[in-house]
Amino acid sequence: MFGIKYPILCGGMMWLSKPSLCAAISNAGGMGNLTAGNYETEEEFRQAIHETRKLTEKPFMVNITALPSLRITAEHHQMYLRVCAEEGIAGVEISGAPLDKVGGKGAVEMLKKAGVKLFQKVGSVRHAIHAEKLGYDGIYAAGFEEGGHPLNDDVTAMVLTPRII
Ligand SMILES: Cc1cc2nc3c(=O)[nH]c(=O)nc-3n(C[C@H](O)[C@H](O)[C@H](O)COP(=O)(O)O)c2cc1C
Repeated sequence: MFGIKYPILCGGMMWLSKPSLCAAISNAGGMGNLTAGNYETEEEFRQAIHETRKLTEKPFMVNITALPSLRITAEHHQMYLRVCAEEGIAGVEISGAPLDKVGGKGAVEMLKKAGVKLFQKVGSVRHAIHAEKLGYDGIYAAGFEEGGHPLNDDVTAMVLTPRII
């Protein structure tokens, strides 16, 4: 889908998935991750994207974690999505609420039009089906052993993955 050398994705990580790590992983042939929640303003977020692009010409993913938070609000989520579309980011992964909730009605269309591939971290079969219906390009099956997991019902990735398939 992205023409990367190794099918290895860096997880979205608060405090860690910033331009230098993101670019290092993309340069090594994997998929780097720039985690939007590290940035409070549009200017900071755009600057991080531009900094990453100075460090690598390879594609990288942006993580948007749409969980209830006092610091990162619904306005932030919508700003991140708009900037990803405007900047033509290769792929966006969402954890927490799905794109129809977090981005509003036109979000999927806006991002698809900009050529951004869409992924959702899901912890259940029903959430995977919802992502498919919305037109996502892929999902991550995130079992309860996964840090920052979207559900809390003790189903591991080894059980969840074949059920989703
Ligand atoms: C320090 C740290 C911070 C993380 N922060 C986020 C986050 O902000 N959003 C998110 O969706 N996942 C977050 N995660 C989860 C990772 O993206 C990943 O899904 C998880 O570590 C499972 O992958 P692994 O088994 O390769 O570690 C974080 C993980 C770690 C270790």
